[in-house]
Formats: sequence, structure tokens, C-alpha cells
Amino acid sequence: MKTQQLPWYMNAMFYEVHIRAFCDSTGDGNGDIPGLISKLDYIKQLGIDCIWILPMFSSPLKDDGYDIADYYNIHPDYGTIDDFKQLVNEAHHRGLKIISDLVLNHTSDQHPWFQKSRSEADSKYRDYYVWSHTDDKYSDARIIFLDTEKSNWSYDDQAGMYYWHRFYSSQPDLNYDNPDVIEEMQQVMKFWLDMGIDGFRADAVPYLIQREGTNCENLPETHQILKGFRAFMNDHYEGKILLAEANQWPEDVREYFGDGDEFHMGFHFPVMPRIFMAIRKGDASPIHWIMSKTPDIPDNTQWCTFLRNHDELTLEMVTEEERQWMWEEYAPDPRMRLNLGIRRRLAPLLDNDHQKILLANALLYSLPGAPIIYYGDEIGMGDNIWLPDRNGVRTPMQWDDSPNAGFSTANQNELYAPVITTGAYSYKRLNVSAGLSDPNSLLHKMRHLVEVRKTHPIFASGNYKFLAVDQTECLVILREYQGQKVICILNLSDKNQMITLNLPDDRDKILIDIVHNSKFRHIKSDQTTIATDAYEFLWLKISN
Ligand code: GLC
Repeated sequence: MKTQQLPWYMNAMFYEVHIRAFCDSTGDGNGDIPGLISKLDYIKQLGIDCIWILPMFSSPLKDDGYDIADYYNIHPDYGTIDDFKQLVNEAHHRGLKIISDLVLNHTSDQHPWFQKSRSEADSKYRDYYVWSHTDDKYSDARIIFLDTEKSNWSYDDQAGMYYWHRFYSSQPDLNYDNPDVIEEMQQVMKFWLDMGIDGFRADAVPYLIQREGTNCENLPETHQILKGFRAFMNDHYEGKILLAEANQWPEDVREYFGDGDEFHMGFHFPVMPRIFMAIRKGDASPIHWIMSKTPDIPDNTQWCTFLRNHDELTLEMVTEEERQWMWEEYAPDPRMRLNLGIRRRLAPLLDNDHQKILLANALLYSLPGAPIIYYGDEIGMGDNIWLPDRNGVRTPMQWDDSPNAGFSTANQNELYAPVITTGAYSYKRLNVSAGLSDPNSLLHKMRHLVEVRKTHPIFASGNYKFLAVDQTECLVILREYQGQKVICILNLSDKNQMITLNLPDDRDKILIDIVHNSKFRHIKSDQTTIATDAYEFLWLKISN
């Protein structure tokens, strides 16, 4: 297959934005859609292809918008439907795609469907949710929000029954055994796709269906429903994508790609904590291990990879022992822990060490998949562990050193969340404007790395193979595509490492350093020895 025939998402770079946190155009303390529009040029110059926005719908915000009260309206803090249309047009005008969250599994308890469901036993809405006279069904299903919820059932006084919810009790699960619910969601998809968006990041997809005696995750019936949504997209919306949020082991996520007839993309959750493990331990084996467990996926489907996002750094896909180790190493203060994860941002996790931050990104970009950058991580933003829930990693974007980091003209106490004002992460020194004007900034280096990755489609479509080296501290990945080869060498340790590569087929060829765009070495014999500094990475193209 020729590179130019690849679907757009295969080689895309994604950027995750929380509208509330990005830019406030009205001075009310909340980011909004016109604010995001005003920053599209910034996102574009970063090398981004597609923006993923967190839920922007009407919501009582018990789960920051993942609790939707009206799928057909924009939260008034963010603007109007017309603003949203303009956002889509302005993004497209710049060659940017835009996808939004699609929260299928549950609604807010404030949604009119649930209001009717609980109060009108005879209405069709009763069957839109999962009700039971007892709270002991589906007892093999785990509790996800462990720190707040004691059960997946909550009692509702009005209905005189229990309703099922996999997340907060204010988020009742929809009943996907009811075809009307499927039809409703298809209408929701249609509404936004007709407005021009390029697809959805489908939230919490493993949990749509419940069956007694199972853990109620990844059930065949759930896949059937998702395939139906995909068929609907195929029929009417060519080129638009579905991205699965299934926080599961790779063999289970594999099922969400179907035979190329379910999701176009799926997050690779388990590789993420292992990148942090590998860098802290100075040991490539966690990456070798998880990739050995990662099955091939159908043509024209793609993994979506990330280091951080708007949630806690989840430790669900690691062993109990690994989780304890990750908590001790990366979340020594109990405030840093939440549910089964760590509520910190990328830069603080990696000691604000730009070399390590770049190494982590380079590792991510060396693996198969289309990467996502979480807003603010490109400048190395900090977090605020004292805020509740996951809010500490959702603080206002730091644009410049003016009051409120240039995010908003509101009074400081009117901001939806405080800007970070102390220490190395204070907006006074760490902001986009400072990053743009310093040629050695993390922002410039990130932008360059993104550009290099994107100009080498080998990263998006090529095969990958780990090359054996004696140093367990180094990860060496060979990417290959249509006779081209790039060797990615990542020194995960805090010491210099000399590694020897066996390249008998490439004798007399030249290694080109594609990051610095310079000749690196003439390969004179079957073996070549390469010196790397602590936490250094090299991307070397083999050239004639
Ligand atoms: C997903 C979202 C998370 C949300 C949850 C419930 O995991 O990423 O932020 O709380 O779904 O909707």
C-alpha cells in the first residue's frame, strides 16, 4: 500500500483539549469555544492533525461533563451550537480535524430520560436504564471509582428500585438491551456528524451490556452494538472515525477492532504505565513484555498512544506488585493517588527533566500508533494535587505571564480552577509565550519531534521489531516500511551506554540522524557500536 493511500488517522498527531481549561474569551473564568477558536493557530503550529475535545454538552458537571443532561446542546459556559459550528469550520479551514467525546454508557441523572425513567413506571423511558428490585445482580462487576462508590447499584426513592451505574451514582447506565437506546444514540451521532465533526472518542465502551455470571466487560453483545454504530458511520460518514476508550489488556482491546468493522482506533492503555516503569527502572523489559502481548490489528486500524490524559494515570493494567511500585515511585504523597491511579501531570512525574520528557515522548512515537498530546504537556505544565478528583491535572492552560496566565481576564477567585502560581511550574515562568521565544524550550523540542515523526510515515505504517542488545537499559526498535529502515535507540538509564548493533545487511550504508538531520555514521562492518548519553534517544535512518 502506498503511503498517500493511508487513511488520515493512521499518521495523525492528536491533541486533547478541555474547553473549560483552554482559553476564556468572555472573562467569566471558564474556557469557551471562541477561546479555543482563537488558539487553533497555536495547535496547528504544534504539528497537530486532530483535536479531541472533552464533552462539551449540557451537564450538571458532577463528572466534568461526562455526565450529560442533553446530548443536543452545548454547555452554556462553553458557548452555543453556532459557536461549535464555527469551531468545526475554523478547524477545517486550517486543515485540522476535530473529534468529540461520545458518552454512550451512561447519562447524567439530570437527563430527562432518567427523570422520566425514575418517575414514570409506565413510560418507555423506564426501560432506558438498568433497574432492579435488588442490589445483588451482576456482583462480579468491579467498581471503577473505588474511592467514592461502594456499589454499582444505587437506590432511587422515586422508582423504589435500584439502578445500575459503573461510574458515579449520578451517572446511571443506559440499557443497551433496549433497541430504542441504540437508536437514540445513533441520532446523537448523526446530529454531531452532520455538523461536520470528524468522529468520536467513544467513552467507556466495555460496559454497555450486563450479563449474570460475567464481569460485564467486553461482552459479545457489546461488540455487536458497537459494530452497528460503525456500520452506521460507514454508510453515511466515510472518513470519520471511532476511537475506543477501552481500558483493557491488549488482547481484549484487539476485539474492539473486530475484522476492521468495529473501531478505527483504540487507546493502548497498558503500554503507558510501562513507559514510566521503563524510564524509572532504566530497563527496557516492561516495554518488550507488553508489546509481546500486543496482537496485530487489522489493516487501516490504528492504536492511539498517550503518556497522560485528563484522568488519573491509570494502573489498572499492571500487576498488584507493579502498582505498589508505581505508587511508591511516582506518587509518594497519598494526595497524588486516586482510585487505582496517580493524579499527576507528565512534567512533575518526570522530575521536570526535559530530557526525560522528550525521551518518554520519543519512546511513544517510536512504537506503532498515533500519539496524543495532552494540552499543556507540550510546555511541561505542572499539576495541583490539592484540588479534588482529577481537577489537579485540568488547571488553566498557561499562555503567558500576565494575570491568570493569559487564560482569562476574570478575577482570580472567579476562575473555574486556580492557575499554578508557585515554583518551577508557575505560569510566570512556564507558559506558551516563554516557550515560543526560547529556542531551547521544551515546546520547541516537542514541536520538532512531532514534525520529524510526521515527516517519516514509517512510524505510522511500518512494521516494528525489537533489536537485541546486551544492555537491558536500552530499547532498540527497528521500524521498516517499503524497504526503508529507521533504528530507534532509547537509553532509558541515567548512565551512558555503549551498544553494539548487528547490521550485516546494511554494511557500507550510512546512518542518518533524522532528529538533527545530519550524517551519523558510515556502517563499515557487520557490527557498529553506538555511544548514548543518559536518557538520550537517537532515530537513525539507514540510507545508501
Ligand atoms: C472515562 C473518562 C472519565 C470519566 C469516565 C466516566 O473514563 O475518561 O473522565 O470520568 O469515563 O464517564
